[in-house]
Amino acid sequence: MNEVPVIAIDGPTASGKGTVAQRVAAALGWHYLDSGALYRLVALRALQAGVAAADVAALTRLARSLRPQFDAGRVCLDGRDVTDEIRREDVGALASRIAVHPPLRAALLDLQRGFRCPPGLVADGRDMATVVFPDAGLKVFLTASVEARAGRRHKQLSEKGFPSNIAILLQDLRARDERDSSRSAAPLRPAKDARQLDSSDLAIDEVVAQILRWHGER
Ligand code: DC
Repeated sequence: MNEVPVIAIDGPTASGKGTVAQRVAAALGWHYLDSGALYRLVALRALQAGVAAADVAALTRLARSLRPQFDAGRVCLDGRDVTDEIRREDVGALASRIAVHPPLRAALLDLQRGFRCPPGLVADGRDMATVVFPDAGLKVFLTASVEARAGRRHKQLSEKGFPSNIAILLQDLRARDERDSSRSAAPLRPAKDARQLDSSDLAIDEVVAQILRWHGER
């Protein structure tokens, strides 16, 4: 049994869980796992290699041989810094489509569990509490209304100088939510013992503070 403590933070896309999880990890001095980045890395490799979204065997091979290096907020793959590339909308959309394949998900399990090192791990994703770290000491399901999430994504994109359209963002988020929640393998849903937190009307600081309070209560 692994004694290293884990805080699992799951939730839909653009719920702010990435920023929140990183801040919680920094506050505790713990490691951080961005599991979505792993699905995005497989998607990027698939795009580069011309592997189809339905070619489960080839995708699973790509996942099994994935050796990313995470360092100081950057991620390198096959000797190249791909931090910005994996954030592209086309890479995210493909990540969501290929994440439905159970053998690919199974191929990423050991890689994800390898992040569990002392003094602790904060893991963010869709199935951290339900599948990857079911023994996590604290499980948080972070939600926000689709309108709040579209608004945040719009702001992020315009800060980076990318024009975006709220109506299209809403449509994309709904499609992504539907796919992530309705798939049969590890669908996005709260673990039975997860604490739910709706961040629609909360600032990031308030969300981080609440999670640290729950952690402190344990
Ligand atoms: O969190 P994100 O947007 O970077 O994740 C990209 C996609 O990867 C997401 O749409 C679904 C998939 N994913 C998953 O299936 N399980 C996870 N634990 C994390 C992400």
